[in-house]
Amino acid sequence: MKGASHPTNDVSLNPSSTPSIHDVINQVDASRRQFVKGGVGAAALASAGGLTLSGLVSTVQAAPVPASLGFPGMGFDSVPANTRAANVLAGGVPTAVIDRITVPTGYTANVFVAWGDAIMPGGTPFVGNASETAAQQAKQFGAHNDGMHFFPFVGTGGVPVSDRGVLCVNNEYTHEEILFTDGQVGAGYTIAKTRKSQAAHGVSILEARRVAGKWSVVKTSPYGRRITANTKMRVSGPAAGHALLKSNEYTITDAATVATGNQLDGFTAYGTVNNCANGITPWGTYLTCEENWNGNFGSNSAVPSAASGDAGKLLNRYGVVAAGFGYRWHTTDPRWDVVTNPNETNLFGWVVEIDPFNPSAMPVKRTALGRFKHESAQYVVDSQNKVGMYMGDDERNEYIYKFVCSGAFNPTNRAANRNLLDSGTLYAARFNANLTGEWLPLLPGTIGLNGLALRDNPNFSGANDAEVLAKILIKTRMAADAVGATMMDRPEWTGARPRIGGFDEVEVYCTLTNNNRRGTTPASVIAQDGSTTAATARPPVDAANPSADNVYGHIIRWRETGKTVTSTTFSWDLFAQAGDTATTKVAKPTNDYKGNIVDAPNGSADYGAPDGLWFDYFGRLWVQTDQIGDGSGDFVNIGGNMMVCADPNTGETRRFLTSPNKCEVTGVTMTPDGKTMFVGVQHPGEDSFAANPTQFSNWPQGQYAVEADGVTALPAGRPRSSVVVITKDNGGIIGS
Ligand code: FEO
Ligand code: CA
Ligand code: CA
Repeated sequence: MKGASHPTNDVSLNPSSTPSIHDVINQVDASRRQFVKGGVGAAALASAGGLTLSGLVSTVQAAPVPASLGFPGMGFDSVPANTRAANVLAGGVPTAVIDRITVPTGYTANVFVAWGDAIMPGGTPFVGNASETAAQQAKQFGAHNDGMHFFPFVGTGGVPVSDRGVLCVNNEYTHEEILFTDGQVGAGYTIAKTRKSQAAHGVSILEARRVAGKWSVVKTSPYGRRITANTKMRVSGPAAGHALLKSNEYTITDAATVATGNQLDGFTAYGTVNNCANGITPWGTYLTCEENWNGNFGSNSAVPSAASGDAGKLLNRYGVVAAGFGYRWHTTDPRWDVVTNPNETNLFGWVVEIDPFNPSAMPVKRTALGRFKHESAQYVVDSQNKVGMYMGDDERNEYIYKFVCSGAFNPTNRAANRNLLDSGTLYAARFNANLTGEWLPLLPGTIGLNGLALRDNPNFSGANDAEVLAKILIKTRMAADAVGATMMDRPEWTGARPRIGGFDEVEVYCTLTNNNRRGTTPASVIAQDGSTTAATARPPVDAANPSADNVYGHIIRWRETGKTVTSTTFSWDLFAQAGDTATTKVAKPTNDYKGNIVDAPNGSADYGAPDGLWFDYFGRLWVQTDQIGDGSGDFVNIGGNMMVCADPNTGETRRFLTSPNKCEVTGVTMTPDGKTMFVGVQHPGEDSFAANPTQFSNWPQGQYAVEADGVTALPAGRPRSSVVVITKDNGGIIGS
C-alpha cells in the first residue's frame, strides 16, 4: 500500500551514507546456503492419488508431488524489466513505465474482475465515472484488492475441482480522488461519501467459474458477498469481553451513525478495514488481516500523548493520530473519531475468520492471534496435526509472531476445528546473530527484560491471569517490547514451504520489504515499557536486518527445531537480499545495494521491496513487489512492480510478470490443478486526482477490450485495481 493519503510506511527510500556492518552480512552470507543443504529427507510423500484429507484441505497440503525435494523447476524465461527506458522504446513517455501486464511467452493474462464489477445478486455494472452510490458499491467488487484465495468446489469423491470455486479477495483501502466522481471533497464531504468509502473496504467474495475455457464471475451466485467497514462481527478468544473492547454502540444507517447511549459488550464489532494480505485455515476458512487500520480513524481534537496515561500510550504505540491517513470518515461518522470513541480502535488490528461457503455466517475476530498491523497469516500443520500461524506486523521495526493452537487439527471433521483459533499461545520472534532464534511466549508468566513477569508489568496488570492475557493480546506490540523480540525491517507476507517431494521441514519465509529507519542516526530502540511512538525507533543493523537504510528489502526464513510448529527454537537464514545489480550506488564500507539475487544472466530478475510471498502447491515460491512503481529513483533499472518465481533450494529467481504504471502487484492464488493463477494488481496510476483520474494509468481498459469472460465491458474513466487471471497457452501448470 502506498499513496498520497497513505504515506506512513510504503515510501520509496533514499540511500543513506551511514556505514553498514558488512562483517555481519558476510557471516550470514557464508552460511545461508548451509541452511538448505542440511536435514533434507529423501522420502517421497503420497501423490495426488493418495489424498486422504477433505477436498478443501487437499488443495493446500496434498497437491501433486514433484521431484527434486519439493521443487519442480521453472519452465519459462524471465520477462524484461518494465523500465522507463523500455517505455520510451515502446513509444511512451519517459516519466512512466509501460502501462501493461506482461507475462512470459506461452502465457495469457486477462482481467478477471475489477473494482466496481457486480459480484452478487442485485449488483450493477461499473460506471466509468464512479458515480455509484454506497448501496451500489456494497454489491460490487471492492477497491484496491490485495490478498486472496481460491476455495475450490468439491467434486466427485471429495476431490476439489479446478473450474469452479469461491474466490475471497481483500480490499485494502480506497483512494477517494478516484472513488468519487468529484473527488474526496469536490462539492463537499458528506456521510454518503463516507458510506461509499466504507463499502469499498473489506472483503469481496465471489463465485468463479470456467466454462469453455473462459473464466467469469457468476454475478448471480448465492456465494457472492461483500464484507465492509460496517458488517457486524463477533469477537472471540481470550480478549473478547474485556473492558477495552467495549466501544460506544451506534445505530448505523445510510444517513447517519447515531449513538445509542449504550456500550458494546466486548463480544461484538462492526466492520473490518485495511484488509491487506490474507491467510487460510486447513479447515477451509478465509483469514483477512487488518493492517493499517489506524489510518481510517481521525479526530478534530488532538490524540492524547503517550505520557498522558495508559490510553495515550496505547494509541501512540499503534500510530493512531488525529490526522489518520487523510480519510474524513470521522467528520460524518462519530464511530471513527478516536478522541471521542477511543475503544473503537481496539476492535481493529485483528485477524478475522470468514467461512467462504456460508454467506450468512458472521465473520469472527480472533483475538488469540494478537493485535497489531497484521500483514498476513500463514498456517502450517505439522506431523502431529498441530497448527501454527505465522504472522508479520508491517511497520518499521516491528516484530514477527506465531500462534500455536492448543488443540490439534481434525482432518476428518471440519466442524471440530471451528474454534481452534480461540485458544493457544502467541509468541514473538527473537533472531540471534548465530542463526538461531527463539519464540518468546506472550503469556502472563513470561519474564520480561525488566525482570518482571508480564502479569506484574503495569501495562498488563489485571484482576487475574485471564485479564492479564486479554491485555497482552490487545497490547501485543507492548508485550513483545517487554520480552525483547527482534525489531524487523517491516515484516510483510509469511509463506510456508509445502512439505512435499521429500521435504518435511517446517520452513517459513517472511518478506522484509524495506526500512529507512534502520542503522540511521541517531540510533534508538523501542522502549521496553511500550511507550515508543510507532515507527520512531532507529535501531542499529543486526544479523537478521543487515542493511542500513534498507532500500530494497530482503527475505528471511526459518526452520522450526524438531520439524514441529510447537518448537520454541528455530534456525534461520536470509533467503535473498533484494537489489539492483546494475546500480552505481555504493553503501559504506561496500556495496550492498546490488543484493544477491540468483539469476542468469546476472540482473535479469532483480527486484526490490518484496511484499507478497506465497508457495504454490508444487513448491514454487512466488514473490510480489511493492515499490514506487513508476521506474523512478532507486528503481530506474528494476522498473515497475513485478512477480518473480524462485527455487527455495538454490535461490534461482526468474521474473514472471511485470505490471502497469504506478501499481503494486499483490495477492496470488491458484486452482488446485495449478493451471489457473489469479494475481492482484492494486492501485494502477495511484495519486491521480478527480480532475484527471487517468493521468498516470489507463489500465486495465488501455490494455484490454473486455474482461476474461469476453462480455464485461471495461469503460473508460478510471484506472481500476483488478484481479488478473493467468493461464498457460498449452494448458499446463503455471510456472512449469
Ligand atoms: Fe498492505 Fe504491508 O502491505
Ligand atoms: Ca502488502
Ligand atoms: Ca507493502
